[in-house]
Amino acid sequence: MLLLGDVFPNFTANTTEGEIAFHDWLGDSWGVLFSHPSDFTPVCTTELARVLNLLPEFTKRNVKVIGLSCDSISSHIEWCKDIKCYAGYNEDDKFPYPIIEDKDRTVATKLGMVDKDELDANGIPLTARAVFIVDSNKKFRLSFLYPATTGRNFDEILRVLDSLQLTDKAKVATPVDWKMGDDCMVLPTVPEEQLPKVFPQGVKVVSLPSGKNYLRKTSCPKV
Ligand code: BEZ
Repeated sequence: MLLLGDVFPNFTANTTEGEIAFHDWLGDSWGVLFSHPSDFTPVCTTELARVLNLLPEFTKRNVKVIGLSCDSISSHIEWCKDIKCYAGYNEDDKFPYPIIEDKDRTVATKLGMVDKDELDANGIPLTARAVFIVDSNKKFRLSFLYPATTGRNFDEILRVLDSLQLTDKAKVATPVDWKMGDDCMVLPTVPEEQLPKVFPQGVKVVSLPSGKNYLRKTSCPKV
């Protein structure tokens, strides 16, 4: 079982941009790997189009994106035309991120993305809607697993990337529904005497019935 903080498994795969070795493909970037049940399906098409439109946001965060769907490369290439159209891209624009072919479910099985309840025409399980976030040290940092019938929220993926990248640098955690720029929580591991040095912007302790001073807010650190 893959645990948070483990080195993310390396694998080789055929993609719409040729064969890749996942770790080499990542280079020094973070990565988001997201899987799909199959090509030419409505929810998947909206998701891949959303990623096309959000690509500048991923690039700004030093994140490479890569999709995976069970069908063949030739099917992916045909499907990319529909995705570009749905996203408002020109027909002639290059499809700007790779999609992995996984006809025999090798990658899906290795990463635990197979959905036993969603079968293709031959009765072979399809992939669920998994998301894996890998950092620039190739460490596995976060995953989601949604069923085929529920499309993902890619704004949430950007939001968690912001939280992961911020909390790697500052001694804070991000609270419920946090968005970049909102107040953060001081990590419980920061002792009170260090607060002025670590958070010169100030810390507000929220008074609670327990009398314990654990809910400490600070403005979003600039990192
Ligand atoms: C879809 O992408 O729309 C989809 C794919 C497989 C099952 C259900 C929906």
